[in-house]
Amino acid sequence: MAARLMARTVRGVESILAEEIRQRGLGHVEHIGHREVWFRCADPGRNVLELRCADDVFLLASIVDGIGRCRADLSMLTKAVQALPLEPLLAIRERCGGLPGSCVEVSASFLGKRNYTRYDLEDAVGKPLARALGMRYHSRRGGVAPPAGGLAWRVTLADDRAVVGLRIAERPLHRRAYRRISTPGALHPPLAAAMVRLAAPSDGAVLLDPCCGVGTIPIEAAYVGRTISILGSDVNPTAVAAAATNGVGTGIRWSMADAGRLPVATGAVDLVVTNPPWDRQVPWSGVLARHPGRLWRELRRVLRPTGRAVLLLTDVEARLVGITEAGLVVRDRRPISLFGAHPEIVTVEVI
Ligand SMILES: C[S@@+](CC[C@H](N)C(=O)[O-])C[C@H]1O[C@@H](n2cnc3c(N)ncnc32)[C@H](O)[C@@H]1O
Repeated sequence: MAARLMARTVRGVESILAEEIRQRGLGHVEHIGHREVWFRCADPGRNVLELRCADDVFLLASIVDGIGRCRADLSMLTKAVQALPLEPLLAIRERCGGLPGSCVEVSASFLGKRNYTRYDLEDAVGKPLARALGMRYHSRRGGVAPPAGGLAWRVTLADDRAVVGLRIAERPLHRRAYRRISTPGALHPPLAAAMVRLAAPSDGAVLLDPCCGVGTIPIEAAYVGRTISILGSDVNPTAVAAAATNGVGTGIRWSMADAGRLPVATGAVDLVVTNPPWDRQVPWSGVLARHPGRLWRELRRVLRPTGRAVLLLTDVEARLVGITEAGLVVRDRRPISLFGAHPEIVTVEVI
């Protein structure tokens, strides 16, 4: 039973997600767009929920063209979802690990100016779907979060094209079961997974995150499917304790250390993957509060001559001099959008 699927992710890492879909043999990638990747799966199964760079995965239910700016256009969308083959769609969803739903909820977003609201769009889809499924429809109009266990539909509208998807899992994929403890500034897990994939660890590699916070990057590295040694350190003892709790059972070695003075032998690390403080939510502390440039020198020192670092940075231009002076060269810059911020994933190598 073939199906078309849509995986959503952070703006800027779509091509990394597409590569993960190919590498996992999940299907043929048909389209890479703004925050989404469409792929066709000959025999979809539970492995689609194993995607680590995806925020979420949906069955692509309907693509409706001609939805303009007028409220009346929404009736076309209503008609399209009324014609959906719901039984086969739900059967594929269950094969992929989706649990039976108890109500219908819809989350919609659109680009451009329209004479209707996102709630009108949601109701145009949610009400007929609930009727056809014999379920209650939970509207988001009142600002009340939908109850757990619903069938979650997603509608995105760009230009005059509406795309309707049905989420497979009960919870969004970016909500990781391992994250028992979080803090402000903790990294979005699919982005951490994408950074680890960019670093491309091979078997036997040593990977270090010297600003590990609650451990997201090292823990995502533990799921990359390679036998690597993973080290996570942070100057904040509370963060290290949280990382150890989140990463229990992974074999990651956690320690408290200042990234400006790492207790790591020279040339002992193959890969550094990290998001240092942005000063917005989390300030620099320790040696780096006084001498932020020491980070680059420490990274250069601990990396092997063939080493590579994948860094999530803001103000990249301002940091380039320090990076270059430390003996590192920038190989790749990838702008991303993350909750209104626009950092870059920067790949540097030893000169
Ligand atoms: C943006 S957060 C990292 C978040 C992390 N990726 C996560 O998912 O939780 C930056 C981290 O750098 C740490 N930090 C600040 N100054 C440091 C220093 N001098 N050495 C090591 N870690 C430092 C902070 O304690 C914080 O946990």
